[in-house]
Amino acid sequence: TILILDFGSQYTQLIARRIRELHVYSEILPWDAPTTKMEALHPVGIILSGGPSSVYDEEAPSIQPYIMQAGVPLLGICYGMQAITRILGGQVIPAGEREFGPSQIHVKKENPLIPPGILDVWMSHGDRIDKIPAGFEILAENPSCPFAAMGNIAQRIYGVQFHPEVRHTPQGLEILRRFVLEICEAEATWTPESMIDLAVERIRSQVGDSRLLSAVSGGVDSSVATALAARAVGDRLSAVFVDHGLLRKNERRYVEKAFTPLMGDRFVCIDASEWFLQGLEGVSDPETKRKVIGETFIRVFENHARSLGKIDFLVQGTIYPDVVESSAPERNKAARIKTHHNVGGLPEDMNFKLVEPLRYFFKDEVRMVGEALGLPSELVWRQPFPGPGLAVRCLGEITAERLERLRNADAIFTEELTASGWLKRSATGEDDRAAQAFAVLLPVRSVGVMGDQRTYQEVVALRAVTTEDFMTADWARLPADLLGRVANRIVNEVSGVNRVVYDVTSKPPGTIEWE
Ligand code: XMP
Repeated sequence: TILILDFGSQYTQLIARRIRELHVYSEILPWDAPTTKMEALHPVGIILSGGPSSVYDEEAPSIQPYIMQAGVPLLGICYGMQAITRILGGQVIPAGEREFGPSQIHVKKENPLIPPGILDVWMSHGDRIDKIPAGFEILAENPSCPFAAMGNIAQRIYGVQFHPEVRHTPQGLEILRRFVLEICEAEATWTPESMIDLAVERIRSQVGDSRLLSAVSGGVDSSVATALAARAVGDRLSAVFVDHGLLRKNERRYVEKAFTPLMGDRFVCIDASEWFLQGLEGVSDPETKRKVIGETFIRVFENHARSLGKIDFLVQGTIYPDVVESSAPERNKAARIKTHHNVGGLPEDMNFKLVEPLRYFFKDEVRMVGEALGLPSELVWRQPFPGPGLAVRCLGEITAERLERLRNADAIFTEELTASGWLKRSATGEDDRAAQAFAVLLPVRSVGVMGDQRTYQEVVALRAVTTEDFMTADWARLPADLLGRVANRIVNEVSGVNRVVYDVTSKPPGTIEWE
């Protein structure tokens, strides 16, 4: 394991992901984690992240004794470098001005960490180092930052003022590779197979002989979590998929096709669409829709769970970024814009214990595991879909007829995007492709003309966004002729729709979904 200590940088998770890309397992702990927790990971190297503080702040996060005593190689990035400097008797001073953005460093000394030459790097720091600790050498410099990198090569302690983990440092992955594989001599054994072995072993040791229940939503995470649990406990796992009638076209079939071969009749599909539609009758307020759906889901789920007899554990698809976020050092709590809930967000009073097989996996790893477990790639690579489903894309009142209209329009859009290669299909690269794309049915009607007849029908909006993390997004620059073809098909093939518009709002200020 490479242990990453989080000093509050927005890039901490990125460090962990890069190292895992090198097939080495890494875990993030907060900078003040208890020693026992750090020791338990048996780190072969430690990386100290950047962070927003100044080492001279009164409550500045500091380096705990264990880290210097562990006897393993150490790499401090930005704040991490300054913290090392401070603790080893060097000096950090506030910089005259913040350096932020692209920069170049000149590598001055041949060393095991940084390749020689003049390198483009990404800088983001306020303070800088004025005097390096005894025993250290300057490895790289630039005019505004004479100590861009330092190292004590014999003791295997390094510090870099720039960020090797971001893509804007083209040699960054190479620097991390040298640190992890050469300096720490970590073994590159983190592969989909070893991820599966680890997860299966953890599930087995957690649940013993108990019975497990999983709620499958059709999304990537719950599907992979369920498949892992099935691998771990075999027929002691039951799974349920609640069809709330707010699914995309063919969705239920996808899910059945994936899980029936895996689980036979221990996988159950419950058609509760009538129930949900009744609850949503006359509701057009977005938050009320979410509330009705969440509550109905719980009732349907409870009913089913009771019918199965005693179940101790519930499988949940929590992934690593959620775990890291919730234990991260103080961060501003984001304002609640929408009540996101996962269908699968479950009854609190049922006394289930939770099994979270994806707790240590990043999203791209979840997908790799899913593929290695043999789940269909449509399922593994699918775009995110909100728990409340089409309800938040069918603006205004929800009726079976309007849902069908939306479903058909959405299927046409997806079909054309897929055929033309405009849907993003991998975690990296393809940055101009749509990471999420769907149709929205608007609660307005407009006038049109069709075959000399006046029409007065509904409007479909198309939404397609490029994004890495779904926190911010931009509208996808889809080719005009593609949009034209989709509009044409929707108006011709979907009855009740006579107009199509394309949403060109970024997030912020818009959100990805319309409700
Ligand atoms: P917004 O609309 O807030 O969405 O920009 C960001 C991402 O979250 C998805 N989303 C949801 N996912 N339950 C979910 O599980 C929800 O209630 C929900 N609402 C939005 C949305 O599809 C996008 O990927």
